[in-house]
Amino acid sequence: MKIDAEQECMRRGESGQALSLAMETLIKYGEAFKAQRLVKIKSAHVAGSFGIFSIRGLYEILARIKADNLKVKVPTTINPRPGESLHLLNKIIFGKQNYLEECFKGMGVTNNYSCVCYEGLNRPAFGDVLAWAESSAVQYANSVIGARTNRNSVLIDICSAITGYVPEFGYLLDEHRRGKILVKLDITEMDASALGFIIGRRVVDKVPVIEHYPFSTSELKNMGGAMAASGAVALFHVIGVTPEAPDVQSIFDGKPENEITITQADLDALRTCKPERATSVVFGCPQMTYEEAMELAVYFDKRKVSIPTSFFMIPEAKSRFEKTDMGVAVMKSGVKLRDFCPVAGFSLRFGNKHILTPSGKCFYYLSGTDYGTVYECLRACGVV
Ligand code: F3S
Repeated sequence: MKIDAEQECMRRGESGQALSLAMETLIKYGEAFKAQRLVKIKSAHVAGSFGIFSIRGLYEILARIKADNLKVKVPTTINPRPGESLHLLNKIIFGKQNYLEECFKGMGVTNNYSCVCYEGLNRPAFGDVLAWAESSAVQYANSVIGARTNRNSVLIDICSAITGYVPEFGYLLDEHRRGKILVKLDITEMDASALGFIIGRRVVDKVPVIEHYPFSTSELKNMGGAMAASGAVALFHVIGVTPEAPDVQSIFDGKPENEITITQADLDALRTCKPERATSVVFGCPQMTYEEAMELAVYFDKRKVSIPTSFFMIPEAKSRFEKTDMGVAVMKSGVKLRDFCPVAGFSLRFGNKHILTPSGKCFYYLSGTDYGTVYECLRACGVV
């Protein structure tokens, strides 16, 4: 791999040992994937936001960064908090939360605490090179915005944030952004999150190209999050909707490797639970935007939920929403507005035997959770 003068200075340790180790790590990471060079990034997004007491290696590395007083070189945001104050057991499991947050604050990381960073403080432009972790954010940046990032891991994201570089391979290069699998739709009632879940399972890590459907940005967010969880998809295209796929001819190199068709029966088969059996309902994962909360709010106005129901929201969106009349109406109905990650927060369940969710990502990661459409979830909490 070619290293320029600035990168070589960092590697030699002229700005301290921690930065030297970060640069060495990025070089080795790049060499493993046959990268030819390191390229500058416009922003970073870090995913290691859960202060789990047992991951000592991470805290040792953060301590070294703190000792050398290293700061991030590009705007850097961070994933949601884990809901450490939800329950005594969470307080114990996430016992290093305060320490972790102090370290990130010291590095200059923006304390947005959201996986939907692109809706606010970290909105890239088409073609920007990024070093993001968090599969749902990577998916949105690549697919919907047309920025370029690999699915980086926890720690690689930090190495990139403090050096300002990332190795150039994978989704940073044109040839890996081409479509591989054509996805045809035979669907009468769209459920984008379920569709994303099924596509992720079927294509695993290939780049799917979905035939034209007028998905909203919320649907693209929720579909992408599910696809990136049930598979390892980091980039999808929708013909005539996402920026790199104006038509079928220009997104494939010749013909697709394969074609698959997703049917209404495939979507229906994902719905595993009768709404009557649900003991609680979780909306939002990736975290809910202000607009999504407003859309759902109309169902809760002047109604009471019959079982515990939560909206998991972007913290900034929650602050805005709870000040509105609709936000107040939703809270009066008994819905809890929360600004952390449901998967981390509810991993111990706390008596929630049958959580029902319309989020394909939450369904995948929160074990024992059932999947339902938005309407089924509204029925389960007794407002329709
Ligand atoms: Fe975000 Fe947590 Fe879901 S990080 S995508 S709310 S699993």
